[in-house]
Amino acid sequence: MTAPRSLTLRILRSSPGEGIAPHWQDFLVEEAEGMTLFLALGEVRERLDPSLQFDFVCRAGICGSCAMLVNGKPTLACRCLTRDLDPLITLAPLPVFELIGDLSVNTGKWMRGTAERLETWIHSQEETALTAVEAPMEPALAEAIYELDRCIECGCCIAGCGTAQMRPDFVGAVGLNKIARFRLDPRDTRSDDDFYELIGDDTGVFGCMSLLGCHDVCPKGLSLQTQIAFLRRKMVKVGVL
Ligand code: SF4
Ligand code: SF4
Ligand code: FES
Repeated sequence: MTAPRSLTLRILRSSPGEGIAPHWQDFLVEEAEGMTLFLALGEVRERLDPSLQFDFVCRAGICGSCAMLVNGKPTLACRCLTRDLDPLITLAPLPVFELIGDLSVNTGKWMRGTAERLETWIHSQEETALTAVEAPMEPALAEAIYELDRCIECGCCIAGCGTAQMRPDFVGAVGLNKIARFRLDPRDTRSDDDFYELIGDDTGVFGCMSLLGCHDVCPKGLSLQTQIAFLRRKMVKVGVL
């Protein structure tokens, strides 16, 4: 039996609220069987420093709250096994989002702002008849909508996006994916002209540089490349007509 590895978690710490500037701090943790980064961080907080800030809710890759930069790459900490990494692991908060402290960032505020701006809800003129029988939807269409709805708003695509680092008002792959989702939904009566009003400029689909960092880091494997390319074609059509 091989001895457990000793891991060094090199964490970028800071606390804007308390005026603590960013600085690196190392923590030594003994690796356990099947250890995830989330478990390693829990160990640090329990044994070494209870003040360490990081977020988690589900521990199962569903809530999207534990995203951070792992060796520079946006990653969900709860789905990342330490055995897949070298013993020296650097952890930093996601860029772009408001920093709360240490590894904790306010993705919720950003996501809400983007949802309000892009009006990511069904727009329909029809009155909702509460007693009416539910209208059926083609299974293939329902499946395609569900596929885009799998986004967990973790923020990895924003943290991996060159445009989002330069333009705070860029809606990013998460925003464009949401537009693709509502565009597909027949219950939403908005036209491509309406969607153009929302994403037909540099803060939307024309700000995208198509380098596909978003596609590479999305932990849910969403088809961001396809969605962005498709939306761009549709929006160009509206723009030139
Ligand atoms: S392809 Fe577009 S949205 Fe995706 S990372 Fe690049 S600039 Fe950002
Ligand atoms: S599109 Fe992917 S990377 Fe971006 S927020 Fe949704 S799940 Fe996360
Ligand atoms: S804790 Fe929910 S996705 Fe990691």
